[in-house]
Amino acid sequence: MNITVVGTGYVGLVTGACFSDWGHNVLCVDNDPRKIEMLKKLQMPIYEDGLEDVVSRNVSEGRLHFTESIKEGTEFAEVIFIAVGTPPGYRGAANLSYVEQVGRQVAENMDGYRLLVEKSTVPVNTGEQLKRTVSKYLRSDIPFDVASNPEFLKEGTALEDANQPDRIVVGVDSERAGKLLRDIYEPVIKKTGCAFLQMNIASAELTKHASNSFLAMKISFINAVSRVCELAGADIQEVARGMGLDARIGPKFLNAGVGYGGSCFPKDVDAFVQIGDHLGYNFELLKEVQRINKTQREHIMQKIQHELWVIQDKTVAVLGLAFKPGTDDVRESPSLYFVPQLMEAGANLRLWDPVAEEKFAELYPDQTYCKTPLETAKGADLLLILTDWPEIRSIDLDELKSAMNCPVVIDGRNIFNPKEIRDKGFTYISVGRA
Ligand SMILES: NC(=O)c1ccc[n+]([C@@H]2O[C@H](COP(=O)([O-])OP(=O)(O)OC[C@H]3O[C@@H](n4cnc5c(N)ncnc54)[C@H](O)[C@@H]3O)[C@@H](O)[C@H]2O)c1
Repeated sequence: MNITVVGTGYVGLVTGACFSDWGHNVLCVDNDPRKIEMLKKLQMPIYEDGLEDVVSRNVSEGRLHFTESIKEGTEFAEVIFIAVGTPPGYRGAANLSYVEQVGRQVAENMDGYRLLVEKSTVPVNTGEQLKRTVSKYLRSDIPFDVASNPEFLKEGTALEDANQPDRIVVGVDSERAGKLLRDIYEPVIKKTGCAFLQMNIASAELTKHASNSFLAMKISFINAVSRVCELAGADIQEVARGMGLDARIGPKFLNAGVGYGGSCFPKDVDAFVQIGDHLGYNFELLKEVQRINKTQREHIMQKIQHELWVIQDKTVAVLGLAFKPGTDDVRESPSLYFVPQLMEAGANLRLWDPVAEEKFAELYPDQTYCKTPLETAKGADLLLILTDWPEIRSIDLDELKSAMNCPVVIDGRNIFNPKEIRDKGFTYISVGRA
């Protein structure tokens, strides 16, 4: 099948690359000329393990193409996936201007039936608005459908997730749209046997917001329990293990730490709260999830303050700038909370991340960026761990201690064994572990 994917970010590029890898002909559209130029030269605008290989292979085999032109994209395929950003807008509600823009532009260029598929995460009832927009900007009476097909991939394992999905959710209100989406996903359904859930558009839209909010709630829950552990002298790792082995609970998303970040959870929880308010439901549970997430960072900042007493002129080494390992995405990353706070307090910062340095340096160009965790630690009065990169786990603790000015580690990801690292002579402060 011919498929157009609009937006070549973390979702659009991975989706387009995978569709082409499954045998479809794909045209990826982005209105950022820099991205399209890079992609045409087979340079990846984002870091995602294995992506470059899949893109290169499918480009060279003639199934994957890139363009800046939405007109070309509209003419190319019957099915058009919208994978543009939906960042936080006014009062945390999703900013749907990019989605709306694509809807308008597709409508203006349509010459026959088109199915517009919301791949972006959007609030419930966006499908209705999209239909209104397309109808309004259509030049003649051309039939079209709108569908929702939320994306559940995770940055860091995006290709794996796209090729082995837990489930595929589609929201449609016509048989034709349902059949087109089923045909697109048939290769992966055949290969993996994953569930294909067809529902109405509003339910599909809600499934995505509800899923992300539930995961954020799990993180805030375990972070709240970690605070109680600190007060009670218990160990959150033990508690989480004890909870997670209950099949009803499961072990994932029970890691206490610096709170959730990234381009999805914060904005999706915000947007879900907002759409609840808009529809007349006060989602207080999620408001508490947001509050716990915010206070978790503040709590860790207090630990830093407590250890250093005076932050001014202290050297702080920060390990991890990406919001999680395996990605260069720094959107809403915990590092974007701690680095400015420490800068403002007058600390000298030494920063390290194996892949996110470039994206972070666009925001903070004048900081000191180091090549390895050990180099980062040189002369530091405190080492702050923000991302669970494997390179941090494999640090030689003796070398780390001799590199630092004072061997103080604040571990926002509970990477080290407290006894082992303290036996090496470190002052070690982690999350929820007495
Ligand atoms: N990043 C994730 O892990 C993830 C996972 C699931 C769902 N989502 C959702 O998918 C959507 C996209 O997220 P992302 O992380 O890929 O965003 P992104 O910012 O990485 O990519 C969006 C792309 O859309 C392009 N774009 C914006 N307006 C355009 C237009 N009018 N025409 C053509 N291109 C346009 C931008 O230039 C950009 O390249 C969001 O709604 C997000 O919530 C993201």
